[in-house]
Amino acid sequence: MANVFAKKPLVLNKGKGAIVWDINGKEYLDFTSSYGVALLGHSHPKIVEAVCRQAERLISCHAGFYNDVRTEFLQKLAGITPKDLEKSFLSNSGAESIECAIKLARKFTGKPEIISLMGAFHGKTMGALSATWDKKYREPFLPLVPEFKHVPPDSINKVREAITEKTAAVLVEPIRGEGGIRVPPDDFLQGLREVCDERNILLIFDEVQTGFGRTGKMFACEHWKTIPDVMCLAKPIAGGLPIGITVAKDHIMSSLKVGQHSTTFSGSPIVCAAGCAAIDVLLEEKLVDRAAMLGNYFKSQLEDLQAKHRIIKEVRGLGLMLGIELKFDVLNIILKSMERGTLFLDAGRTVLRFLPPLVTEKEQINRAINVLDEVIGNEENERSSGTFSN
Ligand SMILES: Cc1ncc(COP(=O)(O)O)c(C=O)c1O
Repeated sequence: MANVFAKKPLVLNKGKGAIVWDINGKEYLDFTSSYGVALLGHSHPKIVEAVCRQAERLISCHAGFYNDVRTEFLQKLAGITPKDLEKSFLSNSGAESIECAIKLARKFTGKPEIISLMGAFHGKTMGALSATWDKKYREPFLPLVPEFKHVPPDSINKVREAITEKTAAVLVEPIRGEGGIRVPPDDFLQGLREVCDERNILLIFDEVQTGFGRTGKMFACEHWKTIPDVMCLAKPIAGGLPIGITVAKDHIMSSLKVGQHSTTFSGSPIVCAAGCAAIDVLLEEKLVDRAAMLGNYFKSQLEDLQAKHRIIKEVRGLGLMLGIELKFDVLNIILKSMERGTLFLDAGRTVLRFLPPLVTEKEQINRAINVLDEVIGNEENERSSGTFSN
């Protein structure tokens, strides 16, 4: 495989709920959910069953034909997406869901320009990368797609100033994930909605990381009662199988005509069967409420840690999308936690990111907190005794 992933020295080969095992049988508490994918926990029995059943019936079916399971999935999806967002294009990844949104915005408005935020992450294909902020991802591939601009986050005025007669859309993550688990000020998304309505441009929410209950609401935009024109989804929605979804208001999606967008795997039956099961599990097990409840508990435990360890600068996030900003690089914390059987993510150099499955038990949160307490405490001691240089 191409050498583009920063590898951890771990070979994982089994998972169940919030636990994964390596090839030596060592158990790890997985607070990464495979970057937010295993939201229902690893190998949820209902996903396994749906995938096996569908594999015996029909695995692939090009979207040039109708398929019963795809129809069922689209209906279930329309049942959980915000009002009026009911027409979907199915693809295979988060970046693809963004590519479709960009094309849709240009096609619907007839205008080229997309405004996104400094600090945003929308993926690494050329269109999505053009909306992504970090120069370490962008610079090696210049020139990117033209007519993209970035404005400082959380300021309605900056967005307003950036809009021109060429602007098609504003694209934002309701809570920035890779950008450090940044929750916007309370009036930001509503304010964006108003500006977009005033100026007749599309509002696109990238809910690839925040969607499907992760933040304690089905979609993060519900925290601020703001409905976009187009929403991008991916990561957990097919229970762990690859998926991307661009969902839009009917009249907007209808501006894409036959042949103007497609992908071979769009809505393959096996992915849709997993997607149906994933929506059922999310609703039947009331996991969205569970994310809110467990998230409050986890956040309060993290705040207790902050009170104890002065190197924790801030605790941020909503539901089970949480982060802590440290005063130094978090890589060592991640590696030391891994040695103690707990997997965490980063979100930039100084932020530890927590995306545990929504089925995580309270006791497992306590375990993670104990590991953090010990590892951060050790690091703090070593740094104050001068073992580290920065
Ligand atoms: C908010 C957001 N948008 C888009 C993407 C890109 O998704 P993918 O890696 O599936 O292409 C990610 C991935 O982490 C993301 O967090």
